[in-house]
Amino acid sequence: MQTVWQRFSVPFEFPVVFTQDLFAVENTALRDVITRLEPRRRHRLMVFVDDGLAAARPNLLAQVRHYAEHHAENIELVCNPILVPGGEKIKSDLHFIESIQQSLFDHHIDRHSYVLAIGGGAVLDAVGLVASTTHRGVRHIRVPTTVLAQNDSGVGVKNGVNLHGVKNFVGSFAPPFAVLNDLEFAMSLPDRDKVAGMAEAVKVSLIRDASFFSWIEQHSEHLATFERAAMATMIRRCAELHMRQIGHGGDPFETGSARPLDYGHWSAHKLESITRHHVRHGEAVAIGMALDARYSVLSGLLAPGQEDRICLLLEFLGFDLWHPGMLRAEPDGELTILAGLREFQEHLGGELTITLLADIGVGVEVHEIDIERMKEALFWLKRRLEA
Ligand SMILES: NC(=O)c1ccc[n+]([C@@H]2O[C@H](COP(=O)([O-])OP(=O)(O)OC[C@H]3O[C@@H](n4cnc5c(N)ncnc54)[C@H](O)[C@@H]3O)[C@@H](O)[C@H]2O)c1
Ligand SMILES: [Zn+2]
Repeated sequence: MQTVWQRFSVPFEFPVVFTQDLFAVENTALRDVITRLEPRRRHRLMVFVDDGLAAARPNLLAQVRHYAEHHAENIELVCNPILVPGGEKIKSDLHFIESIQQSLFDHHIDRHSYVLAIGGGAVLDAVGLVASTTHRGVRHIRVPTTVLAQNDSGVGVKNGVNLHGVKNFVGSFAPPFAVLNDLEFAMSLPDRDKVAGMAEAVKVSLIRDASFFSWIEQHSEHLATFERAAMATMIRRCAELHMRQIGHGGDPFETGSARPLDYGHWSAHKLESITRHHVRHGEAVAIGMALDARYSVLSGLLAPGQEDRICLLLEFLGFDLWHPGMLRAEPDGELTILAGLREFQEHLGGELTITLLADIGVGVEVHEIDIERMKEALFWLKRRLEA
C-alpha cells in the first residue's frame, strides 16, 4: 500500500467594514470592496434585498440603483435589486433557493461577479448558500441589517437553510468576500429585535471577555434605550469577539465536536422550534443562558450569585427569562426541551459538548449533562419568575 498525502492550506481574509449610510453616493465603502482586487474593472453586481427590510425602508431599492449609477465606472448592476422573503420563511422552503439560483443563471453571474445580500441573518444565510454553491462559489458580499446579523451571524463563515424540519440541515462553510455593517439599518429595527440581538453580545462576553460583560453592565441603561453610541460599541465589540474566535479559535469550519460560541444555545434552538419561531433566536438564547448559568452553579462550576447577576442584566436589557414552551412535555412525560441536548450533539456529531461557565468571561466545555440537575435549573428559572 502506498499513501500519498495531499496537503495545502488556503489563507482566508475578508474585510468587515463598520459604516453609516452605506448607500449614500459619497460613501465609498461598497465601491471600495468591490474594486478591492481589480480596481480598474467594471464589476457585475446582483443585489438581493430582504422584503421585510424593504418594507421598513421604502427608498432602499432606489438608493441601491442610484448608488450603482453614480459609481457606474466600477459597478454594473445587472438587474434591479430583487426582493426575497425575510426571516425564517426564506430558509424553510428550497423553492426560494432554486429561484435565487435561477436569477444568477439568468443574469450570467460568474465567479468574478458579485452577489450582494442585504437583510437579516436568514436572508444572508440563504443567499450565501446560493452564492457559495453556484459555480462552486461566486463572490458574496453581506450587508447584515439586524443587530444579531451585524454582531454575530453576518461576520461568520456559515450559510444554510432548513430541511426536514432541521435548522441549517443544508449549508456550507464559505467566508464572504466582504461584510458591510451599517448601523443605520440596525437602528431602524423594531425594538423587540434590537433587544434580541443583544443576547449574542452578553453570550460572547460571558464565555470570552469579562471586561466586555462589565461594560455591558455599566452601559445597560444606554443599551436598554438603544442609545446610538452604546449600540455601535456593543455591535462592534461583539462582532470582533466572534471574528477572533473564528479566525484564531483553531476550528473555523467546526470539524471538532465543540461549538464554542454556542453558549446557551442547545435549549434555545429547541425552544425556537417548540414555539415555531414565535420566540426570536436572541430571546431563546437569553433564556438558555440563564438556564445554563444556573446549571453551572448547581454543578459547582460557577460561584453562586453570578447566575443572578447574569439574569438581572438580561432582564434589564429587556429579556423575559421564561417561556411556557420550556415545560412542554412529550407523550412519555419527558420535557421536550431536553431533546435539544441530543439534537445539539447530532448537528456536529461526535461527543456531546456543552459550554458552561466557570466564571463570568470564562466558558468551559463539558461532555455530560445531568438531566435531573438540568431540570432543577429549569424549575429554578420558573420559580424566579413567580417570586
Ligand atoms: N450563519 C450563521 O453563522 C448564523 C448564526 C446565528 C444565526 N443565524 C441565522 O440567522 C437567522 C436569524 O437572523 P436575524 O436575527 O438577523 O433575523 P431574520 O433574518 O430572521 O429577520 C427578522 C425579521 O426582520 C426583518 N428585517 C431585517 N432587517 C430589518 C431592518 N433593518 N428593519 C426592519 N426589519 C428588518 C426581516 O424581514 C425579518 O422579518 C436565523 O435563521 C439563524 O439561524 C445564522
Ligand atoms: Zn446565536
